[in-house]
Amino acid sequence: MYGVKISGVGRAVPELELSNHDIAEFIETSDEWIESRTGIKSRHISSGETTTDLAVIAAKNALEDGGIDASQIDLVIVATVTPDSAMPSTACMVAKRIGIKGATCFDISAACSGFIFASEIAVSFIKQGNYQNALIIGAEVLSRAVDWEDRGTCVLFADGAGAAIYKRCSENKIVNILTVSDGEGSDYITLPTLSRPNRFNQTEMSGEYMKMNGREVYRFATTAVPQNIQDVLKDTGYTPADIDLFILHQANSRIMDSVAKKLDVDKEKFFKNLQDYGNTSAASIPMALVDAKPYLKSGDKIILSGFGAGLTWGSMFIIWGQ
Ligand code: ACO
Repeated sequence: MYGVKISGVGRAVPELELSNHDIAEFIETSDEWIESRTGIKSRHISSGETTTDLAVIAAKNALEDGGIDASQIDLVIVATVTPDSAMPSTACMVAKRIGIKGATCFDISAACSGFIFASEIAVSFIKQGNYQNALIIGAEVLSRAVDWEDRGTCVLFADGAGAAIYKRCSENKIVNILTVSDGEGSDYITLPTLSRPNRFNQTEMSGEYMKMNGREVYRFATTAVPQNIQDVLKDTGYTPADIDLFILHQANSRIMDSVAKKLDVDKEKFFKNLQDYGNTSAASIPMALVDAKPYLKSGDKIILSGFGAGLTWGSMFIIWGQ
């Protein structure tokens, strides 16, 4: 078995920045309501950038950060629920646009847990010796999936991409990954794909926007995430008290505070950048990793944890050291 480490991270957001005040100009909401319920103050929204555009920029930044050439990448996985097309995959388009040739490229769908699920696949493949350098991207243009008249969702979700490069190495830095799914909660967050009536099936498309039962999602996240973090640390010799930094999916500040309380950990150890970016689904964890990186020291023990539609959730325990 080979070792694996993260050797580069990168991010991209659309140019247009939309504050809570800006949103309050066209729907009935307020900066006070949004910030006190979620911690979000602003977000970036596409005025033309596609999921692939954002993924390409995040990937280029991660390659530059890791000092890796595109030609060295042999695996590309994009986690997204808002691909520009079902075919070709976003991963193939990214590879084409940044000059990656001959790599295995595919997309996965695990909503806001997508980066953790894609990382588990890449890390397992690298450990087995199948690949050497994997480019893993979470990329979303959720602004095209939400109903901008539904104040319960449009104030939360936003656009962006984050990328990480996993590299084969002798000393393993990815200690453990644990992913879980439960289809019983599948109707808590939904986003139907395009389906047209045809000669044999005249069913009309309905409810094409994202829908969310916020209260159930909140209950799920604040229960499943602390348990999953305990479980991923089991048998590693570490407890939540030993962790230097928790980087959770940036959905809601109150969810993070609740997880901190349940784990009996100082909430200051939970990294937050959702105030500036909102909930960018699969992109949020690698985007947060970019902002957290200047504060990380070699040897820091870090938990990355995602949760979202499916239901899906999962955590990674890593030791920092590029
Ligand atoms: N502005 C003003 N009022 C609003 C808004 C808004 N943007 N949205 C809802 N309200 C109103 C509701 O209409 C309701 O009014 P009513 O009492 O008159 O009916 C009231 O505020 C309370 O609504 P709730 O939905 O009960 O508000 P709650 O306190 O539960 O907060 C929230 C909603 C923030 C969505 C919360 O449930 C939450 O954070 N849930 C978790 C959601 C989440 O994290 N999702 C992402 C994870 S999964 C993924 O990322 C795909």
